[in-house]
Amino acid sequence: MIKIEGLVFRYDGSPRDALNDISLDIEEGDFVGIIGPSGAGKSTLTYALNGVVPHHYSGNFRGRVEICGMDTAKAGPEAISKYVGSVFQDIEGQILSSVVEDEILFGLENFGIPRGEIEPRVEYALKTAGISELRHRNISSLSGGQKQKVALASIIALRPKIMALDEPTGELDPQSSRRVFETLKELNERHGLTIVVVEQKIMMLCEFAHRLVVMDEGRIAAEGPAREVLRRGGMLEEIGVNIPRIATLARKLRGLGLYDGITPLNLAEAEKMMRNGRQC
Ligand SMILES: Nc1ncnc2c1ncn2[C@@H]1O[C@H](COP(=O)(O)OP(=O)(O)O)[C@@H](O)[C@H]1O
Ligand SMILES: [Mg+2]
Repeated sequence: MIKIEGLVFRYDGSPRDALNDISLDIEEGDFVGIIGPSGAGKSTLTYALNGVVPHHYSGNFRGRVEICGMDTAKAGPEAISKYVGSVFQDIEGQILSSVVEDEILFGLENFGIPRGEIEPRVEYALKTAGISELRHRNISSLSGGQKQKVALASIIALRPKIMALDEPTGELDPQSSRRVFETLKELNERHGLTIVVVEQKIMMLCEFAHRLVVMDEGRIAAEGPAREVLRRGGMLEEIGVNIPRIATLARKLRGLGLYDGITPLNLAEAEKMMRNGRQC
């Protein structure tokens, strides 16, 4: 579904590569979480998925990004947007309309969706994003978190095969963030959407993503199921990723020879770890 091979990208005028030899395969129906310190290249990687790189930002682009068999360097951003829906980190720059409903209609009309299909799609998108009551609101009156949900609703309406989301819960409290992730899970499981999400809330990713990709200085520093990636806690701390305290605790107990089980990803598993530890 997504195939990245030897991708290198350096923004014009930048002294170093924002992406440095990235190779990554993402299968249809995958749910991939991207973490890494600030400046690691996470946003740039999402730009490479939706064609913003190399079509919007000029720079030195090498390697290959294939989306559903389409070479993104050759296809235009519009063709790519038929497959990839994006929520950008800079939400203000993404929203173009002044009223919520118009923002969703804008994309649907641009895509040439038949009239009869438009209303059910708008309703579904608003409901799925949990903002039905905001339909007629002026976007300038919304909070940052509500705007993030509007951006999410506007891509849900377009029914892309892939969603590339760059910190979509950055403005949301933990409870609303969880609701967004539950929505993503439903879209992933029920509709087979492939999801690539950059997220700082690592526990959330551990719970929802099938796989984590850790980026550092434009490279992939680690990749795999959350549990395996978290086992390498020392490396993650070194590059500046805040790992969950229970994973650090498991690593320390392991180092002391007091525990050799799985890395706990939630409180129930942590409790089990502590109980087993006491029996040792
Ligand atoms: N528009 C731009 N022009 C020049 N350099 C940029 C631009 N956007 C990002 N960069 C640089 O590319 C690198 C990766 O940035 P980014 O992808 O935004 O990282 P992250 O999302 O992980 O914080 C950083 O060194 C950043 O300064
Ligand atoms: Mg970023």
